[in-house]
Amino acid sequence: MCGIIGYTGPRVATEVILDALKKLEYRGYDSAGVAISGSSIQIHKDKGEISVMESTLPHFLGGVGIGHTRWATCGKPSKPNAHPFADCTGSIALVHNGIIENYAEIKRKLIEDGHIFTSETDTEVLVHLIEKHNHGDLRQALVAALSEVRGTYAIVLLQKDSDRILATRKENPLVVGLGVGENFVASDVTALLNYTNKVLYVMDDEIVELDPRKVTIYDPSGIPVERKPSLINWSADEAQKGGFEHFMLKEIFEQPEAIRNTLRSNLEAVESGNLLSKTDFPSIKIVACGTSYHAALVGKYVLEKVAKVPTTVELASEYRYGSGAKEHPLVVLISQSGETADTLAAAREARRRGCQTLAITNVVGSTLTREVDEVFYTRAGPEIGVAATKTFITQLIALYLIAMRVGDGRRSLSRDDLRAFRSELLRLPQVVRSVLDSSPQVEEATDMLVEARDIFFLGRNINFPIMLEGALKLKEISYIHAEGYAAGELKHGPLALLDSKTPTVAACPRDHTYDKMLSNVAEVQARDSPVLAIGFQGDRDLEQVASKVILVPEVPPLFSPFPITVALQLLSYYVAKRKGCSIDKPKNLAKSVTVE
Ligand code: F6R
Repeated sequence: MCGIIGYTGPRVATEVILDALKKLEYRGYDSAGVAISGSSIQIHKDKGEISVMESTLPHFLGGVGIGHTRWATCGKPSKPNAHPFADCTGSIALVHNGIIENYAEIKRKLIEDGHIFTSETDTEVLVHLIEKHNHGDLRQALVAALSEVRGTYAIVLLQKDSDRILATRKENPLVVGLGVGENFVASDVTALLNYTNKVLYVMDDEIVELDPRKVTIYDPSGIPVERKPSLINWSADEAQKGGFEHFMLKEIFEQPEAIRNTLRSNLEAVESGNLLSKTDFPSIKIVACGTSYHAALVGKYVLEKVAKVPTTVELASEYRYGSGAKEHPLVVLISQSGETADTLAAAREARRRGCQTLAITNVVGSTLTREVDEVFYTRAGPEIGVAATKTFITQLIALYLIAMRVGDGRRSLSRDDLRAFRSELLRLPQVVRSVLDSSPQVEEATDMLVEARDIFFLGRNINFPIMLEGALKLKEISYIHAEGYAAGELKHGPLALLDSKTPTVAACPRDHTYDKMLSNVAEVQARDSPVLAIGFQGDRDLEQVASKVILVPEVPPLFSPFPITVALQLLSYYVAKRKGCSIDKPKNLAKSVTVE
């Protein structure tokens, strides 16, 4: 996610802004910039690290400024796409976090009215839209502009010849820092801790006006509201993690938002047929590594069930050894980083074989995006923990949306099916939230696992790859040996390894696999292996057969990977925490694997 800072006071604003932006670096970014108000607005920005932008920063002397670190979502990482952005006359400038969904439509109209754009971003339309509505009262202009906008945002705005800063938010964090004779606004308290620990949290649709002397918060109808300041006693490290002990836990808890953002920024393209304009390919092949490979395996079930397209999945490191089928499948390459060497090599090979290619990635402008015909961006925001969590769940969302698009394109889904599918997808943030709310129950279940040397993870059908992922998550952060198995495979070998010291985790949603899963659970318990079963709320039978149960909200069978994934992520996290492991940086692992 991008970082935002605004300052108004007696200090040299660039010094405060640079310091604050450096505190926000941990969030990940690809470019940075500042704007300082005076008799004109001076803007300086660049691609790359803050130090790159800082090395050429002129001596701007004003005491009112805004700054930004950008994590590209709309338009590649580049100097023109970096924030801040100014209007045509250079009288206002702003920085923005979030996504403006209807920016293309607004931009078209603004261009007709004579506005000139310098970037590919959605953000730039905001400053021009505010300019269009600005007849002297900037707060009113901001309100009018936002009434035309669909999306999410935290915006900080300044104007020339003024020590006033305006800020507002919708579904993006924004916090005001209160100083003496100076005030601050930021996306994250981390940016403020060197200056103040007295903060005001801004709520959705409120507008904040700050100058060095005072801060006024207006409710959506324009009435000033009283808000009591909160005192922050977090250390900088705690603040970066938003009060969570590890980035991994923070990222697990960010999943409802990550899902919502991924849906929001892709649903329109899916429903209008802008994604994959041709869907008449004979089959689909999905290629990926590690956790992304597990998402691919889930994708196979969804694509075959929903879109009725034969789908195969291959590890990216193995793809090159195939001779290439005679037919030309659509090749979908999944990589959260977009930099995994094996996946890049597979993308090149797929094109060499003459296949249409589509990448699913979380990083705008990553190498993979330049190697394929089309890109689907997940909107998980930067993931700092090495173990993939929110990027995995948004890869699943991407695959479900692609299945929806292909199913629609090939007429394998009726209007009613599409409507029902869509509404289940929109319900997922709530489903995931409810699993997160039950995290104490999951933490308690770790008693069964924490001392084990080996653990089996069993599932059937669409939850078989979810259990592969559960096993991978556990082994990478807790160093416990874990194996995922299709439950039906148990008796073909692994049963020999089960004993009272080898627990089993079993996915048992009440669906067409339920009876068979229950038999597997009984089979395992008969070998003295204690079973931790994950089932749907209200399932009393599970308690009769398993040693321990974790219950998650009931969803239609096709959507059960979502709540079960979140329960498994929490389980791995709490086991690793109890073992005192280095959760965010497991030994021997890197966030992006750029060697083959
Ligand atoms: C595990 C994990 C890895 C990655 C794999 C592929 O938590 O993160 O298994 O999934 O290295 O990485 P990407 O998706 O960046 O291609």
